[in-house]
Amino acid sequence: MANEVNRRSFLKAAAVAAGPAVIKARGANDKINIGWIGVGTRGDYGIRWLKEAAPNDVQLAAICDTCGPYITRGIANVQKTWGNTPATHKDYRELLADKSIDAVYIMTPEHLHRNMAVDALNAGKHVYLEKPLAHTIEEGWDIVKAWEKSGKICQVGTQNRSSMLYRKAKEWIAQGMVGDVHYARAFWYRNSAPNEPAWRYAIPPDATPENTDWNRFLGPAPKRPWDKRRYFQWRLYWDYSGGISTDLLVHQTDIINFMLDKTTPASVVASGGIYRWTDKDDDRDTGDTLSAVFEYPDKFQINYSSYFGNVRYGYGEQIMGTEGVIEVMNRQDLYFYPENYARVPANVKARPPIHLNGKADFNEVDGVQGHFKNFIASLKGTEKPIAPPPIGQEAAIGGHMATIAYKNKKMVLWDAAAKKTKFV
Ligand SMILES: NC(=O)c1ccc[n+]([C@@H]2O[C@H](COP(=O)([O-])OP(=O)(O)OC[C@H]3O[C@@H](n4cnc5c(N)ncnc54)[C@H](O)[C@@H]3O)[C@@H](O)[C@H]2O)c1
Repeated sequence: MANEVNRRSFLKAAAVAAGPAVIKARGANDKINIGWIGVGTRGDYGIRWLKEAAPNDVQLAAICDTCGPYITRGIANVQKTWGNTPATHKDYRELLADKSIDAVYIMTPEHLHRNMAVDALNAGKHVYLEKPLAHTIEEGWDIVKAWEKSGKICQVGTQNRSSMLYRKAKEWIAQGMVGDVHYARAFWYRNSAPNEPAWRYAIPPDATPENTDWNRFLGPAPKRPWDKRRYFQWRLYWDYSGGISTDLLVHQTDIINFMLDKTTPASVVASGGIYRWTDKDDDRDTGDTLSAVFEYPDKFQINYSSYFGNVRYGYGEQIMGTEGVIEVMNRQDLYFYPENYARVPANVKARPPIHLNGKADFNEVDGVQGHFKNFIASLKGTEKPIAPPPIGQEAAIGGHMATIAYKNKKMVLWDAAAKKTKFV
């Protein structure tokens, strides 16, 4: 019941900004002016994806980053992709002060999301914010509140919701194709060569303390001396990341919530550690091995696992119903398998297995193009965002609960009335 109330309040909040609070038309040829905060790995790709998603509606007017070499690369990317030279900023607040900017994309490390998103919404900008919504549950509520107050459009970057494969899976589940559902498995496995440790992404060779603004990178995080590993490989440190749970798992708990109309789990247990990448010079905090069990209030469980030492089984979500399985593998393939145990009812056994492929059947690589399109269409007032902050927060809560359970080696409960976690 508490969860139902919680769900209703989420939906009510979601409806607030889903109206026509959009960019004012300035003239027939005017475009939506976008500012881009964070032109690192995701941002660099995103600048190109946006051109494919909205070639005629948008102008990429400004970029902001604290890394000199990435700014240089970002200018070249915008010139090549969009044909203009963007304004550049090192301080995101300067970009937000530019009245001509209608909306911002925020693609910076997790610990910076709260301040950037809240400041952007308070400055009257519409926001596309990468997942996870924020670095903590409390910071996530700050974003939800700022968004409610602002009346602006905000899309959180959990793009699986815009993938046709997951939408089709949701439809099939609603039609009863897999019977009753009480159990799902999800996993994300990776591997890499011994000299390419997981999440030790390449550090630009020309990055120096002089051209990389360490203090702005730290933002609200604890102060410490310049450390390029922390700057460029921030996922490996608790100060800036919740590790596997908030980086990878949130996509998967989010999409299971979406497919099955779930919200927040009632409890989470998690366990794991740094098992594979144990070199004595590797100072990582966050684990390379995680197993977590999510218990939902209405007799439903997610069994989650992630490991960075074997990639055989890849990425997937498997919805295991009493009459069959629906699974999405590697964000590319959707399968339906009917149950086939001894004396299975004939009508169940008769259901033919199905396989759909994202590229072949829907002409999509993953959901990101659709997610960008949905954001731009929302700015134009023709659609509603599919992943507004309350939805991003629901996904992030599960991730944060798993991180808290992993770090404390304790079961974590969700107190829906207080909107926070507690221990047993
Ligand atoms: N939706 C997805 O599938 C997906 C995939 C990858 C990453 N992401 C998300 O995208 C975000 C960025 O991840 P990434 O892999 O691109 O990281 P990254 O480290 O490659 O890029 C982060 C960028 O932010 C810049 N930056 C740091 N501090 C800044 C500041 N104060 N002001 C402006 N810029 C600053 C860095 O210089 C860097 O260019 C994260 O939230 C991550 O979880 C989402």
